[in-house]
Amino acid sequence: MRRTTTRSGRERAALDAAYQECRRLVRTTRPTEHALMALMPPSAQPVCWALYAAFGHADDLLDRSEEAPGERGRRLREWRAALEADLASGTSDDPIRLALTDSVWHWGLDLADLLGALDAVQRDDDREGVATWQEWRERAHAQNVSWPEQLMRMLVRCGLPVPVRLRDLPGFTRFVEGLFLTDMLRDLPEDLDGGHVWLPTEVLDRFHVTPADLLSRRWTPAVQQLIAHLVGEARAWLESSRRALRATLPLGPAIVLDTTVDLFGAELDAILRAGPAVLHRQIRVPGHTRLRILGPARARAAVVWRLTLPPGGEAATAPARTPAVDRTAAPEFSMATRISEPPLPPRPHRDGARPPEIAPAQLPEHVAIVMDGNGRWATRNGLPRDEGHRAGAVALRDVVQGALEIGLAHLTVYAFSTENWKRSPDEVSKLFAIMRAELLDGELLDHDVRLRWIGSPDGLPDDVVDVLRSQEHATRNRTGLTLNVCVNYGGRAELARAGASLARAALSGEVDPARVSEQLFAAHLPHHALPDVDLLWRTSGELRVSNFLPWHAHYAELHFTDQPWPEVDRQDLWQALETYTHRKRRKGGRVAE
Ligand code: FPP
Repeated sequence: MRRTTTRSGRERAALDAAYQECRRLVRTTRPTEHALMALMPPSAQPVCWALYAAFGHADDLLDRSEEAPGERGRRLREWRAALEADLASGTSDDPIRLALTDSVWHWGLDLADLLGALDAVQRDDDREGVATWQEWRERAHAQNVSWPEQLMRMLVRCGLPVPVRLRDLPGFTRFVEGLFLTDMLRDLPEDLDGGHVWLPTEVLDRFHVTPADLLSRRWTPAVQQLIAHLVGEARAWLESSRRALRATLPLGPAIVLDTTVDLFGAELDAILRAGPAVLHRQIRVPGHTRLRILGPARARAAVVWRLTLPPGGEAATAPARTPAVDRTAAPEFSMATRISEPPLPPRPHRDGARPPEIAPAQLPEHVAIVMDGNGRWATRNGLPRDEGHRAGAVALRDVVQGALEIGLAHLTVYAFSTENWKRSPDEVSKLFAIMRAELLDGELLDHDVRLRWIGSPDGLPDDVVDVLRSQEHATRNRTGLTLNVCVNYGGRAELARAGASLARAALSGEVDPARVSEQLFAAHLPHHALPDVDLLWRTSGELRVSNFLPWHAHYAELHFTDQPWPEVDRQDLWQALETYTHRKRRKGGRVAE
């Protein structure tokens, strides 16, 4: 167990006892989750117990059927206030709060986020139920997204380069929904004891089931069909998210993910088999099934952590005592930004791949990418299109790491064209939300990356313009990679704007039309300092340039690859660069000997 070095023997004993109490609580009330926690690196397991015990405790305070709703809410509020006081002081006289406080202090967990998730649990006290799936989903996300993210934060502390903002990963919110629905089916008898029906009215109506049917535990054909439908939904969500997440997670977390889906799937099987008993008692997975799933997973996880955690990672030195990460610190421009100074070195590739040796003189100065195929990738994996963009953003992170590692000077990516407005407003707004989150909280700008925005503000939401401008400003002194993001960009529109600017200059007498040259024209382009594109790469098998940088890419070498953008990683960039070094660039002249 991790401990701070300043604790006395008695304090250490109290802390050990607190973690063991959390473990006992989780093992007795949630054996499935307890078994899954055993797949995490051993040093991270006590924190899993503490986090889960705290959330379980908050939930239990609200579920006490013998107490009036107001009373339950009051208890939870008191507990939360005590937790906040404990977190400030760094200790507690309550075992769950003591373990959680130690975890937060010791591992630098995101306190604000955790308290937000507790508040979401608290909000259940004022609720009668939920009307729609949409409302249900919001509840699922608010209560359940934070704590797995804290686990990822711990893995980062152990030295594993994992994405912390799981909510940005394709399929993650679906995964949470699958877990939440399975948990809800498992807890149905308990919720009914407390007089709660948390399933959306929308789905009850669809199956002609009333809350009273469930509360009186009548096993009608309609109830049976409803349960079968919900089991099917939970299973489909878990499976589709497994497919999507597997592509983005390193091996260790992928084993935890796979085993979770398998175990929850076994619970769903058991629930379906249990028939009317599902309304009366908690259904458990048979011991031999659990063993069949968990045995090999435990063995694989032990090997994988040994292989993938950097030496010393498993027993990483105690991190600084920073209980909360203040994401809103140091507002620099019109809005709050989160920029690492000094920038972090590039994150290593998850399989340890290293860039090829290419002499700097042979590297292209400027690579431009049409990141195509997000939508098709999502559809192929049974996911909504925005999940494709989310996965695309993760691919971009890796490619940027690869560009930094190899020393590329300029990378330009086509993130949103003026033609992309033809897509559904839903897709467009989700894509903007992904970009915004990525630029504010993702890892892109943690490194030596200077952000430049190419495109027009016309029609863009203010918050997108704000984040682009503020992050451009915040990174303006960086000297590593210049990352140009084309957002609301159209090549011809850019040329037309340059033409208009020249015409104005001619009318005012500033420019002699007879002297308009390529250089003069280029000087009127919005980004005249942008070097010419040496290599233009498009993914997903399309052989077009699609109105992308027509001026700058006039002599670009073209590189087309088949895989959709979300499947790309930095090794594909390096491959493109190697291909480029074999091209003979004539630019209208003779091939150089
Ligand atoms: C093309 O795929 C991709 C886009 C229109 C969006 C690309 C944006 C990202 C990857 C996020 C970038 C994030 C930042 C921070 C710049 P498509 O949807 O056209 O795919 P399809 O052709 O298969 O439909």
